[in-house]
Amino acid sequence: PYVALGIEVNTDYLALSAIDLGGARILSWRRSFDGLDSTAARAATAIAALARRAAARIDRQDRRIIGLTVGVPGLVTPAGVVANAPNLGWSDVDLAAALRSALGNPAYPVTVDNDANLGALAEYRYGAAAGHPDSAYLTGELGLGAGILIAGQLVRGARGAAGEIGHVEVVADGPLCACGRRGCLEAVAGTAAIVRRIDPDNTEEALRDLDPEVAEIARRAKAGDKVVVDALTEIGGLLGRGVAVLANVLNPSLIVLGGHYVPLAAWLLPSAQAELNRRVIAPDAGGCRLAVSELAHSAAASGGAASVLDAVDYAKLSV
Ligand code: BGC
Ligand code: NA
Ligand code: ZN
Repeated sequence: PYVALGIEVNTDYLALSAIDLGGARILSWRRSFDGLDSTAARAATAIAALARRAAARIDRQDRRIIGLTVGVPGLVTPAGVVANAPNLGWSDVDLAAALRSALGNPAYPVTVDNDANLGALAEYRYGAAAGHPDSAYLTGELGLGAGILIAGQLVRGARGAAGEIGHVEVVADGPLCACGRRGCLEAVAGTAAIVRRIDPDNTEEALRDLDPEVAEIARRAKAGDKVVVDALTEIGGLLGRGVAVLANVLNPSLIVLGGHYVPLAAWLLPSAQAELNRRVIAPDAGGCRLAVSELAHSAAASGGAASVLDAVDYAKLSV
């Protein structure tokens, strides 16, 4: 009768996933959310409202929530503080505390984690990285980050900043990144860079609602629009250059491209894989394959639920 909850807050949506002890996904929701203009306090209110709506459903089914983990597009310290979410403009936010109070101090634990970390966990448990305990996951959201698994365990680093591949410089003196630096992988190969490159007249509006924008880019690519196909091919090469760093340092057998990269993968992946192969020192390019997410925008939310399930003390659950 027990259910684990995961929620992801990102720049333009909230996603929720509820998974039972048997691993069955009993709820999977996604709704738009204006993260770009929301303070952490407003986001906490919106997340709590979504959690309460799920709780009401779960109650009616005579089930009980055993925990909630929330994924955020930013660095989360070991104490669970969002140190910096560059695209949301948040820094040093104790989101877990805000959520606990917005939820009226629930009996179950509420924790916060990096969206990419949770995505990596979910793809390994339920998606494209099944059977790949040494793998990585790349978020294709407005921001670009990686979740890293080594021997099936998430790598977080001393301050929770492991996997911040989006802020590795790949173009010297390149375009400005949301983090304030120049030429970051995120600034040249993140979703915003794709939109800016293909739809420059409409960028500010488009970044607020990426789904229709990305669908339109995919439609044009499918129709053979040369401008779009060339842009995606070039951006794929930059992605390959960036993830080659992960491949050379960590030797994952698989790197999963998630989020908005999913509908664009047919045009990004070939050049990304080719560039990766050129740059990897290990034999056969380290056997590192790029793959497409099976969970898309529900990865981080499902990973949140998976991390709740991992933390369950079964001895303490009464049946
Ligand atoms: C942040 C990462 C995050 C990624 C994807 C980046 O800008 O620095 O922490 O995982 O965006 O949301
Ligand atoms: Na990460
Ligand atoms: Zn950056």
